[in-house]
Amino acid sequence: MTKPLEGINVLDMTHVQAGPACTQMMGFLGAKVIKIERRGSGDMTRGWLQDRPGVDSLYFTMFNGNKRSIELDMKSPQGKDVLTKLVKQSDVLVENFGPGVLDRLGFSWAKIQELNPRMIVASVKGYAEGHANEHLKVYENVAQCSGGAAATTGFWDGPPTVSGAALGDTNSGMHLLIGILAALRMRDLTGKGQKVAVAMQDAVLNLCRIKLRDQQRLERNGILAEYPQAQPNFCFDKDGKPMTFDNIDSVPRGGNAGGGGQPGWMLKCKPAHSGDNDCYVYFTIAANMWPQICDMIDKPEWKDDPAYNTFEGRVDKLMDIFAFIETKFTDKDKFEVTNWAAEYGIPCGPVMSMKDLAVDPSLRKVGTVVEVTDEVRGNYLTVGAPFKFSDFKPEITRAPLLGEHSVEILKELGYSDAEVQSMKDNAVI
Ligand SMILES: CC(C)(COP(=O)(O)OP(=O)(O)OC[C@H]1O[C@@H](n2cnc3c(N)ncnc32)[C@H](O)[C@@H]1OP(=O)(O)O)[C@@H](O)C(=O)NCCC(=O)NCCS
Repeated sequence: MTKPLEGINVLDMTHVQAGPACTQMMGFLGAKVIKIERRGSGDMTRGWLQDRPGVDSLYFTMFNGNKRSIELDMKSPQGKDVLTKLVKQSDVLVENFGPGVLDRLGFSWAKIQELNPRMIVASVKGYAEGHANEHLKVYENVAQCSGGAAATTGFWDGPPTVSGAALGDTNSGMHLLIGILAALRMRDLTGKGQKVAVAMQDAVLNLCRIKLRDQQRLERNGILAEYPQAQPNFCFDKDGKPMTFDNIDSVPRGGNAGGGGQPGWMLKCKPAHSGDNDCYVYFTIAANMWPQICDMIDKPEWKDDPAYNTFEGRVDKLMDIFAFIETKFTDKDKFEVTNWAAEYGIPCGPVMSMKDLAVDPSLRKVGTVVEVTDEVRGNYLTVGAPFKFSDFKPEITRAPLLGEHSVEILKELGYSDAEVQSMKDNAVI
């Protein structure tokens, strides 16, 4: 089977999550990925929260499938020689070191271009080149704060809240992948490589576009009518005073309010199995579905009532409407409510717990949750490719052990047995 990135050699100088998520996806798509790791310890995540003593962590294995690993002291002269050979034979170098690390290693953009003019150098950094904070190191949740996600997530009476989704890390890696694919296409046209970089702040902000829209609406109109803060006596501050938009000048945290253009809320139903995640659905009041919603909740009189049958009419009583709808869900679990809403063509979905997702037969069937065979650490679950092709099915293979392919890779680069031995003796590999 032909693979989308067949023939593309990736020099993977990534660690933690943002970079590894990108290169792993390239591996899923058929690129050949060589991961360079610090001698002795490797990617620091190998040791993070190991679930079994002495084996690589699930953090590492779930972000480094479909790769080969070479241990290499990149600061040693022999290590730099290996790196030079790898640069010459690769198509894409992906890195997410702290600012300036590649330059300090002696592999500046100018040097790489000299070695391989077709090379695409792809980087994740915390902030964009030229930004006042470009010198800062950044981790996931820091990026969720710098890109606007934390300030707009959570409830009005609590602190800014970070998402469980890796908006800073994996999201930046996926943005970088888009940039790499575009740079590869451009190289097809021009014959030249180029630098492509993603700032974690920018990748997060790109997902907060709607919140930047709301900031502008707020400044223009002084209110965001669909936010819970606009509902009479619904939101209270920590002193118990009702909140209004009179003293709000930046987009507030809207709890579970619908983000885009359709009001929505998290509604409680009957527990399905056990636990808190088990008894909620997300329900959206899409304007064009109002008549179906009225039928579903047995309120036909709301269909023609001007106090209800337009967005403007019902916007000041949204929370009362959601509370009423919730009363209809007490005898149905989240899956039953979902199916019931579907009968009326209404988009509504269960809050799926990680346990639900791990055992979901449909996700296994479509290849989104994949059980990876690993003879060393034991089989584990990972998330496969989230895109599906008609002519290609990604094959997911286990993450490499530290330095598992060091000798094999050096041999492919043309090093003799004596040279490989010398690198071992000098603690280069
Ligand atoms: C993630 C991050 C905060 C970690 O910081 P850190 O642990 O201090 O690691 P750095 O990337 O700065 O690298 C530290 C050093 O390790 C060295 N190193 C890494 N791999 C090496 C190897 N194989 N051989 C020799 N040295 C190596 C680097 O050369 C660097 O040395 P220097 O500082 O003397 O130049 C930082 O890399 C970062 O901000 N990255 C960009 C944004 C990002 O991707 N964040 C994480 C998202 S998951």
